[in-house]
Amino acid sequence: DRTIKIAPSILSADFANFGQEIQAVEAQGADWVHVDVMDGHFVPNLTFGPPAVKAFRPHVKTVMDVHLMITPVDPYIQAYADAGADILTAHVEAGPHTHRTLQAIRATGMKAGVALNPGTPADAVEHLLDMTDLVCVMTVNPGFGGQKFIDMTSKVRKLREMIGDRPVHIEIDGGVDPKTAPLVAAAGADVLVAGSAVFKGGSVETPGVYGNNIRAV
Ligand code: DX5
Ligand code: ZN
Repeated sequence: DRTIKIAPSILSADFANFGQEIQAVEAQGADWVHVDVMDGHFVPNLTFGPPAVKAFRPHVKTVMDVHLMITPVDPYIQAYADAGADILTAHVEAGPHTHRTLQAIRATGMKAGVALNPGTPADAVEHLLDMTDLVCVMTVNPGFGGQKFIDMTSKVRKLREMIGDRPVHIEIDGGVDPKTAPLVAAAGADVLVAGSAVFKGGSVETPGVYGNNIRAV
């Protein structure tokens, strides 16, 4: 009995109007706002850094969920805490010391997330589950919005089992739409990031799971 949360990714929003775009999706009922930070190094695209995230903060009344697609992570953790991130997620592929990184994130008071690229198995986070508040399962190779969904439902099921009764969210990121959202929700995900489905002519309700209204698989 999980409530599915929708986290619109502002990567697909109008970059000249972030404040209005955030207010619009929150008015539609967005649970969290997902912020994609890219460094042109860990992923082949560049977005924004701490000063931009700080500027988004006053517009986000819900939860600011910051997804770092950068390496290294540790030198920037405090800057994202100061910018007002509620959840800070680092990739397990971003360096050899994810455990230390998650500890450092929690030490600032933020919640700590760990993200897995499609090619990375669930086992990579097995020994991090007591250090983490969220596991982000990438269902595209990170870097761009609007890509085709890669089926990771077996990974999601495995993670849900590994997590057991720990209070750890499973977030899905990439290619969430009305066809794929019910699949990942049924597999055990409880937070769905949606970029193009929400901002390119749709709304928070477009993936079809808003308010826990999960369609039959
Ligand atoms: C991809 C980002 C995603 C992306 C999702 O690297 O992490 O958050 O914006 O966009 P859609 O929903 O269009 O796949
Ligand atoms: Zn993301």
